[in-house]
Amino acid sequence: MHSLLVIGTGSIGERHVRCFLNTSRVTVGVCEIQDQLREDVAARYRVSESFPTLKDALKTNWDAAVIATPAHTHIPIALTLAKAGINLLIEKPLSTNTQGVEELAQTIVEKDLVAAVAYVYRAHPALQAMRDAFNSGRFGKALQIVAVFGQCFPFYRPAYRDTYYADHRRGGGAIQDVLTHLLNAGEWLLGPINRLCCDADHKAIPGVEVEDTVNLICRHSEVMGCYTLNQHQAPNETTFTLVCEKGTLRFELHKCRWRWMSEPGNDWHDEPIEPIERDVLFTLQAAAFLDALEGKAKPLCTIDQAHQTLKVQIAAMESASTDTHYRNV
Ligand SMILES: NC(=O)c1ccc[n+]([C@@H]2O[C@H](COP(=O)([O-])OP(=O)(O)OC[C@H]3O[C@@H](n4cnc5c(N)ncnc54)[C@H](O)[C@@H]3O)[C@@H](O)[C@H]2O)c1
Repeated sequence: MHSLLVIGTGSIGERHVRCFLNTSRVTVGVCEIQDQLREDVAARYRVSESFPTLKDALKTNWDAAVIATPAHTHIPIALTLAKAGINLLIEKPLSTNTQGVEELAQTIVEKDLVAAVAYVYRAHPALQAMRDAFNSGRFGKALQIVAVFGQCFPFYRPAYRDTYYADHRRGGGAIQDVLTHLLNAGEWLLGPINRLCCDADHKAIPGVEVEDTVNLICRHSEVMGCYTLNQHQAPNETTFTLVCEKGTLRFELHKCRWRWMSEPGNDWHDEPIEPIERDVLFTLQAAAFLDALEGKAKPLCTIDQAHQTLKVQIAAMESASTDTHYRNV
């Protein structure tokens, strides 16, 4: 049994508590600054101990910690934990800026720690299977990727106005909150994004001013990329289409499948995967992190890989804040 501390027991922190307990490989303590929330979560789950501050929590020994606080707090908390020799699973995005990231990476190496960033798409069996098929070479070189995400965020997260989402400085807005998932998955398939241009606007979500609609075009070196999302459409759908020389591959998150087509005029060939609920995905991610802790596997997403995605996300925010890339017609 590993001892695990979950820091922040809001929406995703509570899910981590539940899903890590599902693995039966950990005991879980929690640290949450809001008294009521901390007491509720501690009462509902088999939590070993609960703490109102990180300082209190660090009086106990922990093998690992999950950082599930808003993004602007990830790096200072991670640095404190890494210096104390605690292995880390950090929620996405790694941060809102690159301050302290190099120091964190160095501390992780010096203390010989396992550290991962919770880009949970990487734990999805259908995306993993599609990536394996692409990496096998049978579809040839990739030429273009098109990622499309749409979901009515207020329906799924009614309290969004009162969370970090409303504030760019705390990791809010569609680019830092959602696009980052798509970009990270794209980089996992195709390697780093090295050029981009981004257009983003607030179009529909009531009560906030941050962008809820984004179009981004980019290059993963030779491969052309297009990432587009909105957080207000009725259908909840996410697809990644990878156009290669010898066929087209598509991951459909909402259908829990990947499919491919090689001949024009033919049908898609479906590669079904058992349907998985959100908790199952997070339990798979938890198990993968514990496998890394036990030396059985590499982390699904390393700090360096999340740092690269953070640089892309920052470039997207910068690009979206100017319109100098437009040509008037
Ligand atoms: N992987 C995913 O699918 C996914 C989904 C949602 C959120 N997230 C990420 O998880 C993080 C948290 O998101 P959320 O939706 O759970 O936010 P949230 O606001 O619901 O929860 C964050 C919690 O952290 C607590 N907190 C803040 N500072 C703290 C500190 N210093 N010590 C202890 N507790 C502290 C807050 O009181 C709050 O309860 C964000 O980085 C977000 O991007 C990931």
